[in-house]
Amino acid sequence: MPTFKADEAQNYEQRITRLIPGYDLLHDLTAAQLKTLLPDEAKILVVGAGTGKDIITLAQLNPHWHFIAQDISEDMLAIAEQNFTNLGLSARVTIMQGAITSCSEHIDAALCLLVLHFLSDSGEKQDLLNTIRAQLPNRAPLFLADLMAPETEFERESQLLACRQLGLTEVGEQRMRYNLHNEFYPLDRMRLAELLEQTGFATPHYYFKALGFTGVVCRAD
Ligand SMILES: C[S@@+](CC[C@H](N)C(=O)[O-])C[C@H]1O[C@@H](n2cnc3c(N)ncnc32)[C@H](O)[C@@H]1O
Repeated sequence: MPTFKADEAQNYEQRITRLIPGYDLLHDLTAAQLKTLLPDEAKILVVGAGTGKDIITLAQLNPHWHFIAQDISEDMLAIAEQNFTNLGLSARVTIMQGAITSCSEHIDAALCLLVLHFLSDSGEKQDLLNTIRAQLPNRAPLFLADLMAPETEFERESQLLACRQLGLTEVGEQRMRYNLHNEFYPLDRMRLAELLEQTGFATPHYYFKALGFTGVVCRAD
């Protein structure tokens, strides 16, 4: 997994839009669904909040929602905090650095965008999903987005080409090619459904697909 520390945190925002085709659209579509689903007074747990993109997109769509911004990287959260301050959002965000601790408040929904694919399927993914499930009441939605196993033999190569079209350099492409094979633990659809069932979530519904990057929503069961 990338470290998401120091330079990797500092240049995250300029890097990520070239590495994930449709990065902004993924966040916009996630936010649109939450806006449709949730009342004005709602609290949203954002797991792996990074530099704050998920929360900023949601906060701009609804001026009342509150958020918990959780991440294991202090450096990513420090940038997120600065972004929240600059945008006048700080009063609506509780920062949680490190592992998720039990939230005493009612949580209405959770997001875990572009995080789970970095965890191995030998217990790590399951642990994180179990921890998220424990924070949610029945029927609360979880929005998940990850790199999934390729569905055609030309998907990954096409993805690298799409990244070049988004401005990724040749060196960046080489690094991404290496990372796609060595830094991610992508699941196929069957395994994702099985893992969600094992951790207390209902059938995933697919709402975003940009080659390998895939978004699903499922309800706590
Ligand atoms: C690719 S970034 C995604 C950030 C944000 N969700 C976005 O869409 O821009 C992945 C983030 O997940 C965090 N992360 C990795 N493993 C984690 C874990 N087990 N629990 C919480 N956050 C984690 C990293 O520190 C990093 O900030």
